[in-house]
Amino acid sequence: MFFCSECGAETSKWSGKCPACGSWNTLKEITSVTGKKRKKKKIDKLVSTPDNIVKKLDQINIQENSRLKTGIDEFDGVLGGGLVPGMVTLIGGEPGIGKSTLLLQIADKLAEKNPILYVSGEESEQQIKLRSKRLNCQAVELYLFCTTELEELINALNELKPQVIIIDSIQSIYTNSLDSAPGTISQLRECTALFTKIAKKTAIPIFLIGHITKEGSVAGPKIIEHMVDTVLYFEGEIKNQYKILRATKNRFGSTNEIGIFEMQATGLQEIKNLSQLFFDQHSNMTGTAIGSLLEGSRAFLVEIQVLVSPASYGTSQRVAVGLDHRKLSLLLAVIEKNLGLDLKNNDVFLKISGGLKVNDAALDLAIIAAIISSFREKPIQPNTLFIGEISLNGEVRPVSQINKRLKEAKKIGFNRIIISQRTKNIRTKVHKIDYINEIDGVLF
Ligand code: TYD
Ligand code: MG
Repeated sequence: MFFCSECGAETSKWSGKCPACGSWNTLKEITSVTGKKRKKKKIDKLVSTPDNIVKKLDQINIQENSRLKTGIDEFDGVLGGGLVPGMVTLIGGEPGIGKSTLLLQIADKLAEKNPILYVSGEESEQQIKLRSKRLNCQAVELYLFCTTELEELINALNELKPQVIIIDSIQSIYTNSLDSAPGTISQLRECTALFTKIAKKTAIPIFLIGHITKEGSVAGPKIIEHMVDTVLYFEGEIKNQYKILRATKNRFGSTNEIGIFEMQATGLQEIKNLSQLFFDQHSNMTGTAIGSLLEGSRAFLVEIQVLVSPASYGTSQRVAVGLDHRKLSLLLAVIEKNLGLDLKNNDVFLKISGGLKVNDAALDLAIIAAIISSFREKPIQPNTLFIGEISLNGEVRPVSQINKRLKEAKKIGFNRIIISQRTKNIRTKVHKIDYINEIDGVLF
């Protein structure tokens, strides 16, 4: 069989271009496993399952509160409230982002009472011991096993009955029922299928670490995303100390949640007060405006920085960092048409503070405010927050979850909040506007 490493499509013939997703040079040959070759018995031996029978939905009992908390709130939040028995979680991220660090910290927290098995196919025992010293790991029940062979691991599982298993990384593990090398697509699929089976049979939650290649596609893990229950991505610039953990698939919770961590000398620290991270309240400089950003169920404040300056070399430039550049062009067109500002002969640079990437329509009004502030070379009145979506004809529209956003603003101490006239059911005192041509009156 041939397998596309981008989209996972299978074909029986090789070709230069994947017939399903159209990417070039992504088809890789794999050997599929026949039933005979599989080492089913070993896994079956692990736990004897009761006979599988057809049941009525209302006969099935679920145990409430069966989620296991890791004790790291940011992480539990992303998972949807903790670990579910038998859950298989894939954690993807570029090399060096901090996946091993995060999971060692989680293993350490969990291992205070129950045995946790950390399997490493990448580092030696000494390396992990050194890292654990740096992270100040104290847990007594944390077990380490350095192996790359799945069968060896299954034997170890028979002896130690861990409560959680961590595999670092899925690309380094291989099963000897296949001839192909570790890290190949067939090994990856086979091992993930076996881990999923182990998890479902024993009800042990399993974490699989997966590396992403430079192009952003997970080398392999894209292909196993459909086999696991939860897919988390750990992202952020390697040099930037802030890292965002994001759920892109979650069978046991919402996929909108994010967790933010900071890499310090003693490991990853949770960041709970997001707003203070992404703006400096005391800077009321020309060209900056504060807006409200909603990520998952959390609202926080971000600073938008804009620089408008006369274009000196022919066509003017529009550069947006952390925002889709088409969005910037769209808002500039709305300003030109409705406010009559001449931005055509100006370069416009926009940046979201803290290296964030945003995609929230509620920031439109703040972006417009920052552009006008820079264009007029006047700072915006301090303690002003802008929340509103802008329609193409210049109308300021209401946004989702306004009360959550206002609560966060109040907590930080904003007393001038500009929102849409049509917003209903709000409990805070605000300043309402209908069209963007009223904005000049509230800015300065
Ligand atoms: P690591 O967790 O090994 O990344 P991954 O498993 O995703 O490849 O390490 C990430 C980086 O974090 C590494 O370059 C060193 C750094 N680091 C710290 O800054 N502080 C620490 O306490 C630790 C353990 C690592
Ligand atoms: Mg690692």
